[in-house]
Amino acid sequence: MPVGLLRFIVFVPFGVYQGYANNHWNVIKRHDELQGGLYNPLIAKGEHWAYKYGSFGFYWNFAVWVPAIMVPPPFSMIFGLVDCAIAILLSFVTSWQTIYSPHDIDLCRGSGAHYWQLPPGTNESFFEASARLNATQTTSFKMCKTYVKEWQYGIVLSLFYSLIAFISIVLSICVCFTTIRENRRTSRSNKQWLAESAIAVPRLFFGILLGLAYIPVIFFRCLPLAVKSRTRYTRRYADKVRQRVDQNLPSPEEIKMKVMKRNEKMSYQNQDLPEAVPLANFLGIYDILMLVVPHLHYTDILNLALASRSLREAVLPASDHDQRLSHFRLYTCSESSKTQCWVCTNQIC
Ligand SMILES: *[C@@H]1O[C@H](CO)[C@@H](O)[C@H](O)[C@H]1NC(C)=O
Ligand SMILES: *[C@@H]1O[C@H](CO)[C@@H](O)[C@H](O)[C@H]1NC(C)=O
Repeated sequence: MPVGLLRFIVFVPFGVYQGYANNHWNVIKRHDELQGGLYNPLIAKGEHWAYKYGSFGFYWNFAVWVPAIMVPPPFSMIFGLVDCAIAILLSFVTSWQTIYSPHDIDLCRGSGAHYWQLPPGTNESFFEASARLNATQTTSFKMCKTYVKEWQYGIVLSLFYSLIAFISIVLSICVCFTTIRENRRTSRSNKQWLAESAIAVPRLFFGILLGLAYIPVIFFRCLPLAVKSRTRYTRRYADKVRQRVDQNLPSPEEIKMKVMKRNEKMSYQNQDLPEAVPLANFLGIYDILMLVVPHLHYTDILNLALASRSLREAVLPASDHDQRLSHFRLYTCSESSKTQCWVCTNQIC
């Protein structure tokens, strides 16, 4: 985890460093006169390495950010070793830059960039020459400044990368030792442990791939209901059409539905009522009933009304049948658990 954080911190500095090195190497690469002869040959070498290993380190750091957190020891040691190599190379490059690059932007000001390591017998320093030869011509001060910045970023990166390599290697070793000791205590063989860790690596990558494959599904799930239902309808329609084409079925005939008329007169009549049970008396008070209803589902309250004749009279009297039903629909279930049907208007909790 601390390694992951450090890797995240160096993302941006690494990008900047790589950008500077890329620019510098681009100029030097194209112009032989900058690669030696008059000027220090170490500059060309240093910038070439800074570009090569800076880019490698930048992409490596980006690529292994997540895997390095998740891969278990002892395999995480591999990441630590590559980090170590990058840290050493960066330190080398930065130590060379220490020789040929100014350490302070103030040294570039005025005639500083002109006199910095000016080869004897010439009147153009390396910074002036490369500023003149740069793809877009620039001033020697600006060129000098980018070299100073590159050196400064180089120092920071060398430190951070050494820290990353150190922590990840030490952590791997510690975990390995404690696991081996634990294995001895629980008499589990080290080979078995290695095999389990080795399996964890492909499983992890498979898991990541699976997760990536699920992104479109999750995205679809988050779309509004209206879009989803239409998409699903279209898919079902396409499925049906394909099935019919595959099985060579005759085209379907329209099915006419019988229109059902709601018969208001069909509601029950209350004739001679039996003795009311206490519960019916209790629920017979409308206000009390409405206090009870929010704790029930709509179907529950309808079933309650079917329990006995006196309860039916208390909960769902024929005189007030439709009114009560609409009240129950409003009051049953809490607001947050009310869900709407896609196509019909019946409420489901
Ligand atoms: C040095 O500067 C003079 C004029 O300032 C110029 O004529 C000459 O070409 C320069 N020499 C080099 C090697 O750039
Ligand atoms: C050198 O040229 C490149 C490409 O045009 C440009 O991006 C860069 O800023 C220039 N270098 C400096 C120091 O201005």
